[in-house]
Amino acid sequence: MALPKISLVGAGQIGGTMALLASLSKLGQVQVIDIAGDMAKGKALDLDQAGAVLGFEGNLRGGESYADLKGSDVVIVTAGIPRKPGMSRDDLLEINAKVIAGVGREIKAHAPDAFVIVVTNPLDAMVWVMQQASGLPAQKVVGMAGILDSSRFRFFLSEALGVSMKDIHTMVLGGHGDAMVPLLKFTTVNGIPLQHFIDQGHLSSADLDAMVERTRKGGGEIVSLLKNGSAFYAPAASALEMAQAYLYDEKRLLPCAALCQGEYGVKDIYVGVPVVLGKTGVEKIVELPLDKAEKEAFATSVAGVEGLVQSVSQYL
Ligand code: NAI
Ligand code: 2OP
Repeated sequence: MALPKISLVGAGQIGGTMALLASLSKLGQVQVIDIAGDMAKGKALDLDQAGAVLGFEGNLRGGESYADLKGSDVVIVTAGIPRKPGMSRDDLLEINAKVIAGVGREIKAHAPDAFVIVVTNPLDAMVWVMQQASGLPAQKVVGMAGILDSSRFRFFLSEALGVSMKDIHTMVLGGHGDAMVPLLKFTTVNGIPLQHFIDQGHLSSADLDAMVERTRKGGGEIVSLLKNGSAFYAPAASALEMAQAYLYDEKRLLPCAALCQGEYGVKDIYVGVPVVLGKTGVEKIVELPLDKAEKEAFATSVAGVEGLVQSVSQYL
Protein backbone atom coordinates (compact mmCIF):
# COMPACT_ATOMS: atom_id res chain seq x y z
CA MET A 1 0.00 0.00 0.00
CA ALA A 2 1.36 3.42 -0.95
CA LEU A 3 2.16 5.51 2.10
CA PRO A 4 0.93 9.10 2.29
CA LYS A 5 3.49 11.68 1.21
CA ILE A 6 4.90 13.86 4.00
CA SER A 7 7.02 16.78 2.83
CA LEU A 8 9.35 18.45 5.30
CA VAL A 9 10.36 21.97 4.29
CA GLY A 10 13.53 22.63 6.28
CA ALA A 11 15.92 19.74 6.80
CA GLY A 12 17.68 21.09 9.87
CA GLN A 13 17.46 19.76 13.41
CA ILE A 14 13.69 19.37 13.58
CA GLY A 15 13.26 18.43 9.91
CA GLY A 16 15.96 15.75 10.09
CA THR A 17 14.52 14.32 13.30
CA MET A 18 11.03 14.20 11.80
CA ALA A 19 12.39 12.41 8.74
CA LEU A 20 13.87 9.73 11.00
CA LEU A 21 10.78 9.38 13.22
CA ALA A 22 8.33 9.31 10.29
CA SER A 23 10.43 6.65 8.54
CA LEU A 24 10.79 4.54 11.69
CA SER A 25 7.05 4.60 12.37
CA LYS A 26 6.24 4.17 8.65
CA LEU A 27 3.95 7.19 8.92
CA GLY A 28 4.66 8.24 5.38
CA GLN A 29 6.90 8.53 2.37
CA VAL A 30 9.23 11.36 3.30
CA GLN A 31 10.36 14.19 1.03
CA VAL A 32 12.82 16.69 2.51
CA ILE A 33 13.35 20.12 0.96
CA ASP A 34 15.96 22.65 2.06
CA ILE A 35 17.66 25.60 0.40
CA ALA A 36 21.04 24.60 1.82
CA GLY A 37 22.57 23.01 -1.30
CA ASP A 38 22.67 19.23 -1.22
CA MET A 39 22.07 19.02 2.52
CA ALA A 40 18.52 17.58 2.23
CA LYS A 41 19.75 15.07 -0.35
CA GLY A 42 22.54 14.03 2.02
CA LYS A 43 20.19 13.57 4.96
CA ALA A 44 17.75 11.53 2.86
CA LEU A 45 20.54 9.26 1.68
CA ASP A 46 21.93 8.80 5.20
CA LEU A 47 18.43 7.95 6.47
CA ASP A 48 17.83 5.47 3.64
CA GLN A 49 21.01 3.70 4.68
CA ALA A 50 19.91 3.78 8.35
CA GLY A 51 16.82 1.88 7.20
CA ALA A 52 19.00 -1.13 6.42
CA VAL A 53 19.84 -1.38 10.11
CA LEU A 54 16.62 -0.06 11.62
CA GLY A 55 14.25 -2.03 9.41
CA PHE A 56 12.51 0.51 7.22
CA GLU A 57 12.55 0.84 3.43
CA GLY A 58 12.29 4.61 3.53
CA ASN A 59 12.98 5.55 -0.06
CA LEU A 60 13.37 9.09 1.18
CA ARG A 61 13.84 11.91 -1.26
CA GLY A 62 15.76 15.08 -0.62
CA GLY A 63 16.52 18.19 -2.62
CA GLU A 64 16.23 21.92 -3.07
CA SER A 65 13.28 22.13 -5.45
CA TYR A 66 9.83 23.14 -4.26
CA ALA A 67 8.38 21.33 -7.27
CA ASP A 68 8.96 18.19 -5.19
CA LEU A 69 6.07 19.29 -2.96
CA LYS A 70 3.73 17.94 -5.66
CA GLY A 71 1.46 15.19 -4.35
CA SER A 72 2.08 15.98 -0.67
CA ASP A 73 -0.63 14.94 1.76
CA VAL A 74 1.05 16.79 4.61
CA VAL A 75 3.67 19.56 4.53
CA ILE A 76 5.51 20.37 7.77
CA VAL A 77 7.43 23.62 7.68
CA THR A 78 10.47 24.28 9.87
CA ALA A 79 12.27 26.48 7.34
CA GLY A 80 13.92 29.56 8.80
CA ILE A 81 16.31 30.16 11.63
CA PRO A 82 16.06 28.98 15.27
CA ARG A 83 16.82 30.92 18.45
CA LYS A 84 20.33 31.52 19.68
CA PRO A 85 21.11 32.29 23.34
CA GLY A 86 19.80 35.73 24.29
CA MET A 87 17.31 35.81 21.38
CA SER A 88 13.58 35.69 22.00
CA ARG A 89 11.27 33.90 19.60
CA ASP A 90 10.11 37.33 18.44
CA ASP A 91 13.62 38.34 17.33
CA LEU A 92 13.17 35.84 14.53
CA LEU A 93 10.15 37.71 13.18
CA GLU A 94 11.40 39.48 10.07
CA ILE A 95 13.77 36.82 8.74
CA ASN A 96 11.35 33.98 9.25
CA ALA A 97 8.28 35.90 8.01
CA LYS A 98 9.96 36.38 4.61
CA VAL A 99 10.91 32.70 4.50
CA ILE A 100 7.42 31.52 5.44
CA ALA A 101 5.71 33.86 2.96
CA GLY A 102 7.91 32.40 0.21
CA VAL A 103 7.27 28.81 1.28
CA GLY A 104 3.53 29.55 1.48
CA ARG A 105 3.47 30.70 -2.15
CA GLU A 106 5.31 27.53 -3.19
CA ILE A 107 2.81 25.35 -1.33
CA LYS A 108 -0.03 27.16 -3.09
CA ALA A 109 1.63 26.47 -6.44
CA HIS A 110 2.62 22.83 -5.89
CA ALA A 111 0.54 21.31 -3.08
CA PRO A 112 -2.69 23.28 -2.63
CA ASP A 113 -4.54 20.26 -1.21
CA ALA A 114 -2.03 19.49 1.54
CA PHE A 115 -2.51 19.80 5.28
CA VAL A 116 0.13 22.29 6.41
CA ILE A 117 1.73 22.29 9.85
CA VAL A 118 3.96 25.27 10.67
CA VAL A 119 6.67 24.94 13.31
CA THR A 120 8.87 27.95 12.54
CA ASN A 121 8.98 30.70 15.19
CA PRO A 122 7.54 33.04 16.27
CA LEU A 123 4.95 30.38 15.80
CA ASP A 124 1.55 32.06 15.99
CA ALA A 125 2.57 34.90 13.68
CA MET A 126 4.29 32.52 11.23
CA VAL A 127 1.27 30.27 10.83
CA TRP A 128 -0.81 33.39 10.14
CA VAL A 129 1.69 34.41 7.43
CA MET A 130 1.54 30.89 5.98
CA GLN A 131 -2.25 30.93 5.73
CA GLN A 132 -2.26 34.38 4.12
CA ALA A 133 0.53 33.61 1.66
CA SER A 134 -0.69 30.15 0.67
CA GLY A 135 -4.39 31.07 0.53
CA LEU A 136 -5.19 27.55 1.76
CA PRO A 137 -8.35 27.16 3.86
CA ALA A 138 -7.66 28.00 7.51
CA GLN A 139 -8.83 24.52 8.48
CA LYS A 140 -5.86 23.06 6.57
CA VAL A 141 -3.18 25.36 8.05
CA VAL A 142 -2.20 24.91 11.69
CA GLY A 143 0.70 25.61 13.99
CA MET A 144 2.52 23.29 16.36
CA ALA A 145 3.35 24.55 19.84
CA GLY A 146 0.74 23.53 22.40
CA ILE A 147 1.59 19.82 22.25
CA LEU A 148 5.25 20.64 22.91
CA ASP A 149 4.48 23.10 25.71
CA SER A 150 2.07 20.59 27.27
CA SER A 151 4.67 17.81 26.99
CA ARG A 152 7.10 19.95 29.00
CA PHE A 153 4.51 20.57 31.71
CA ARG A 154 3.60 16.85 31.73
CA PHE A 155 7.24 15.95 32.20
CA PHE A 156 7.73 18.36 35.12
CA LEU A 157 4.51 17.18 36.82
CA SER A 158 5.42 13.55 36.28
CA GLU A 159 8.79 14.04 37.97
CA ALA A 160 7.28 15.96 40.89
CA LEU A 161 4.42 13.52 41.49
CA GLY A 162 6.32 10.32 40.72
CA VAL A 163 3.59 9.32 38.23
CA SER A 164 3.99 8.20 34.61
CA MET A 165 3.75 10.95 31.98
CA LYS A 166 1.17 8.73 30.25
CA ASP A 167 -1.28 9.54 33.02
CA ILE A 168 -0.72 13.30 33.13
CA HIS A 169 -3.23 15.15 30.97
CA THR A 170 -2.94 18.87 30.52
CA MET A 171 -3.38 21.65 28.04
CA VAL A 172 -1.18 24.70 27.50
CA LEU A 173 -2.99 27.37 25.47
CA GLY A 174 -2.37 30.87 24.14
CA GLY A 175 0.57 32.10 22.11
CA HIS A 176 3.85 30.16 22.02
CA GLY A 177 5.74 32.66 24.14
CA ASP A 178 6.59 33.26 27.75
CA ALA A 179 2.99 34.35 28.43
CA MET A 180 1.53 30.97 27.40
CA VAL A 181 -1.24 29.65 29.64
CA PRO A 182 -1.02 26.21 31.29
CA LEU A 183 -4.59 25.34 32.32
CA LEU A 184 -4.31 24.00 35.88
CA LYS A 185 -8.05 23.46 36.33
CA PHE A 186 -8.06 21.10 33.34
CA THR A 187 -4.94 19.23 34.41
CA THR A 188 -5.58 15.73 35.72
CA VAL A 189 -3.67 12.64 36.69
CA ASN A 190 -5.70 9.99 34.94
CA GLY A 191 -8.89 11.95 35.61
CA ILE A 192 -8.00 13.00 39.18
CA PRO A 193 -7.83 16.82 39.37
CA LEU A 194 -4.38 18.22 40.14
CA GLN A 195 -5.89 20.09 43.09
CA HIS A 196 -6.39 16.74 44.85
CA PHE A 197 -2.63 16.19 44.93
CA ILE A 198 -2.13 19.66 46.40
CA ASP A 199 -4.87 19.07 49.00
CA GLN A 200 -3.27 15.76 49.95
CA GLY A 201 0.16 17.38 50.35
CA HIS A 202 1.78 15.53 47.40
CA LEU A 203 2.58 18.84 45.71
CA SER A 204 2.96 22.35 47.09
CA SER A 205 1.45 25.40 45.40
CA ALA A 206 4.93 26.95 45.31
CA ASP A 207 6.33 23.93 43.44
CA LEU A 208 3.41 24.05 41.02
CA ASP A 209 3.98 27.76 40.37
CA ALA A 210 7.64 27.03 39.68
CA MET A 211 6.69 24.32 37.17
CA VAL A 212 4.29 26.67 35.39
CA GLU A 213 7.07 29.23 35.08
CA ARG A 214 9.56 26.58 33.91
CA THR A 215 7.07 25.46 31.25
CA ARG A 216 6.64 29.02 30.00
CA LYS A 217 10.38 29.36 29.69
CA GLY A 218 10.93 25.75 28.60
CA GLY A 219 12.20 26.63 25.13
CA GLY A 220 14.70 29.15 26.49
CA GLU A 221 15.99 26.64 29.05
CA ILE A 222 16.95 24.27 26.25
CA VAL A 223 18.42 27.05 24.11
CA SER A 224 20.70 28.06 26.96
CA LEU A 225 21.85 24.46 27.44
CA LEU A 226 22.39 23.69 23.76
CA LYS A 227 24.11 27.04 23.13
CA ASN A 228 23.62 26.71 19.39
CA GLY A 229 20.03 26.17 18.31
CA SER A 230 16.83 25.16 20.04
CA ALA A 231 14.92 22.04 21.05
CA PHE A 232 14.28 19.54 18.30
CA TYR A 233 13.38 16.04 19.54
CA ALA A 234 10.17 17.00 21.35
CA PRO A 235 9.14 19.53 18.66
CA ALA A 236 9.63 16.87 15.94
CA ALA A 237 7.56 14.29 17.83
CA SER A 238 4.83 16.86 18.51
CA ALA A 239 4.46 17.92 14.87
CA LEU A 240 4.25 14.30 13.74
CA GLU A 241 1.49 13.63 16.28
CA MET A 242 -0.55 16.28 14.46
CA ALA A 243 0.31 14.82 11.03
CA GLN A 244 -0.79 11.37 12.17
CA ALA A 245 -4.09 12.71 13.56
CA TYR A 246 -4.86 14.21 10.14
CA LEU A 247 -3.65 11.31 7.99
CA TYR A 248 -5.48 8.65 10.00
CA ASP A 249 -8.58 10.74 10.82
CA GLU A 250 -7.92 10.15 14.51
CA LYS A 251 -10.13 12.99 15.78
CA ARG A 252 -7.49 13.80 18.40
CA LEU A 253 -8.24 16.67 20.75
CA LEU A 254 -4.93 18.55 20.88
CA PRO A 255 -3.75 22.06 21.66
CA CYS A 256 -2.75 23.60 18.31
CA ALA A 257 -2.45 27.09 16.88
CA ALA A 258 -5.67 27.50 14.90
CA LEU A 259 -7.34 30.51 13.28
CA CYS A 260 -9.88 31.78 15.79
CA GLN A 261 -12.92 33.49 14.40
CA GLY A 262 -14.63 34.60 17.55
CA GLU A 263 -13.72 31.64 19.73
CA TYR A 264 -12.23 32.70 23.06
CA GLY A 265 -13.03 36.28 22.02
CA VAL A 266 -10.23 36.17 19.43
CA LYS A 267 -10.80 37.29 15.85
CA ASP A 268 -8.71 36.48 12.76
CA ILE A 269 -5.47 35.48 14.40
CA TYR A 270 -3.86 32.15 15.13
CA VAL A 271 -3.37 31.18 18.73
CA GLY A 272 -3.12 27.94 20.71
CA VAL A 273 -6.56 26.49 21.47
CA PRO A 274 -7.92 22.94 21.89
CA VAL A 275 -8.91 21.57 18.47
CA VAL A 276 -10.14 18.29 17.06
CA LEU A 277 -7.83 17.12 14.26
CA GLY A 278 -9.20 14.70 11.69
CA LYS A 279 -9.26 14.08 7.96
CA THR A 280 -10.51 17.56 7.10
CA GLY A 281 -7.91 19.25 9.28
CA VAL A 282 -9.17 21.39 12.15
CA GLU A 283 -12.66 19.94 12.53
CA LYS A 284 -13.60 21.89 15.63
CA ILE A 285 -12.26 24.42 18.10
CA VAL A 286 -13.32 23.43 21.60
CA GLU A 287 -14.15 26.33 23.91
CA LEU A 288 -13.44 25.84 27.59
CA PRO A 289 -14.91 27.88 30.42
CA LEU A 290 -11.86 29.82 31.64
CA ASP A 291 -11.94 31.47 35.04
CA LYS A 292 -11.12 35.17 35.52
CA ALA A 293 -7.38 34.70 36.04
CA GLU A 294 -7.11 32.32 33.05
CA LYS A 295 -9.05 34.74 30.85
CA GLU A 296 -6.71 37.56 31.81
CA ALA A 297 -3.61 35.44 31.20
CA PHE A 298 -5.01 34.28 27.85
CA ALA A 299 -5.81 37.88 26.84
CA THR A 300 -2.25 38.97 27.69
CA SER A 301 -0.82 36.15 25.60
CA VAL A 302 -3.16 36.94 22.68
CA ALA A 303 -2.26 40.64 22.82
CA GLY A 304 1.40 39.68 22.30
CA VAL A 305 0.48 37.64 19.21
CA GLU A 306 -1.71 40.46 17.84
CA GLY A 307 1.22 42.86 18.04
CA LEU A 308 3.42 40.45 16.07
CA VAL A 309 0.76 39.85 13.43
CA GLN A 310 0.34 43.58 12.90
CA SER A 311 4.05 44.08 12.31
CA VAL A 312 4.42 40.99 10.15
CA SER A 313 1.80 41.80 7.52
CA GLN A 314 4.35 44.02 5.68
CA TYR A 315 6.40 40.91 4.75
CA LEU A 316 3.59 39.20 2.85
P1 NAI B 1 17.58 24.57 11.81
O1 NAI B 1 18.36 25.81 11.62
O2 NAI B 1 18.28 23.36 12.28
O3 NAI B 1 16.81 24.23 10.47
C1 NAI B 1 16.16 25.19 9.70
C2 NAI B 1 16.42 24.83 8.26
O4 NAI B 1 15.62 25.68 7.44
C3 NAI B 1 17.86 25.03 7.81
O5 NAI B 1 18.41 23.79 7.36
C4 NAI B 1 17.78 26.04 6.67
O6 NAI B 1 18.70 25.81 5.61
C5 NAI B 1 16.34 25.82 6.22
N1 NAI B 1 15.79 26.91 5.45
C6 NAI B 1 15.94 28.25 5.64
N2 NAI B 1 15.24 28.92 4.71
C7 NAI B 1 14.63 28.00 3.92
C8 NAI B 1 13.76 28.07 2.81
N3 NAI B 1 13.37 29.24 2.30
N4 NAI B 1 13.31 26.91 2.28
C9 NAI B 1 13.70 25.72 2.78
N5 NAI B 1 14.51 25.59 3.84
C10 NAI B 1 14.98 26.72 4.40
O7 NAI B 1 16.36 24.93 12.83
P2 NAI B 1 15.47 23.94 13.69
O8 NAI B 1 16.11 23.70 14.99
O9 NAI B 1 15.08 22.79 12.85
O10 NAI B 1 14.21 24.90 13.98
C11 NAI B 1 13.38 25.31 12.92
C12 NAI B 1 12.39 26.36 13.38
O11 NAI B 1 11.48 25.81 14.34
C13 NAI B 1 13.02 27.59 14.06
O12 NAI B 1 12.34 28.76 13.62
C14 NAI B 1 12.72 27.35 15.54
O13 NAI B 1 12.68 28.55 16.30
C15 NAI B 1 11.35 26.71 15.45
N6 NAI B 1 10.93 25.96 16.62
C16 NAI B 1 9.59 25.99 16.90
C17 NAI B 1 9.08 25.27 17.94
C18 NAI B 1 7.61 25.29 18.20
O14 NAI B 1 7.16 24.78 19.23
N7 NAI B 1 6.80 25.80 17.29
C19 NAI B 1 9.94 24.46 18.83
C20 NAI B 1 11.32 24.49 18.44
C21 NAI B 1 11.81 25.22 17.37
C1 2OP C 1 10.87 25.92 21.90
O1 2OP C 1 9.85 26.13 22.57
C2 2OP C 1 12.38 27.55 20.85
O2 2OP C 1 10.07 27.60 20.44
C3 2OP C 1 11.15 26.81 20.73
O3 2OP C 1 11.69 25.03 22.16
